[in-house]
Amino acid sequence: NPNVLICDNAEAASLRAAKLFAASLHSWPDLKIGLATGGTPVEMYAQLVRFYEQDLISFAEAKTFNLDEYVGLAADHPQSYRSFMEQQLFSHVNLDPRNAFLPNGMATDVDAEISRYEQLITDSGGIDLQLLGIGHNGHIAFNEPGSAPDSRTRLVDLTERTIASNARFFDSIDDVPKQAITMGIGTILEAKAIVLLALGSDKADAVRLAIEGEVSASHPASFLQTHANVTYVLDEAAAKGL
Ligand code: GLP
Repeated sequence: NPNVLICDNAEAASLRAAKLFAASLHSWPDLKIGLATGGTPVEMYAQLVRFYEQDLISFAEAKTFNLDEYVGLAADHPQSYRSFMEQQLFSHVNLDPRNAFLPNGMATDVDAEISRYEQLITDSGGIDLQLLGIGHNGHIAFNEPGSAPDSRTRLVDLTERTIASNARFFDSIDDVPKQAITMGIGTILEAKAIVLLALGSDKADAVRLAIEGEVSASHPASFLQTHANVTYVLDEAAAKGL
């Protein structure tokens, strides 16, 4: 049975998730951490920054690998996932910038970029602890419904629903990129341990189908049921369908 931690509210869940990452980083300073973007992890990253400022953790020997990046946004575009990570975490902690990896959404040779990114993960020894959010349609990273369980890092088209969900971060929906480079389901499932953080009632259906639904490409997060070490950290609202 999966490990499901239900917390009173979003702040408590974010703190709980941050503590899981901090504890691993404390035990294994050279932790290879898989990172996620979106609204969900913002408070969790703020908590990790607080732990760092209190000298409880150090990122000096850590490496980070983000799940995905939009195609066509320069690294310094305010809505690129690279910029998001700089704002939320990287600029506040002692992570060596050379150890902070994201796909390059501006690569001219996308195939080469995809191979480079998979190779970087492999060469590091693999991801020890992967953070995930979840999309309303069950997507993880940018693995939309239809993604195969053995899919690898690749170029994907975003669904209309995902573009609409993410439009809140942009001036207009037309500014949201239509494609991304994302780790595949297979890439994600190779992480030694996974923490899925979900907050709010609008994620309740997606969470229920992930944990209790049929394992199916129509709800990509359901493939996490095939992984031996997944911890779901939920607030009460996101857990209400369980
Ligand atoms: C985004 C990201 C995912 C994220 C999900 C949910 O599009 N690619 O990694 O988990 O959608 O985002 P949010 O946390 O903003 O609801």
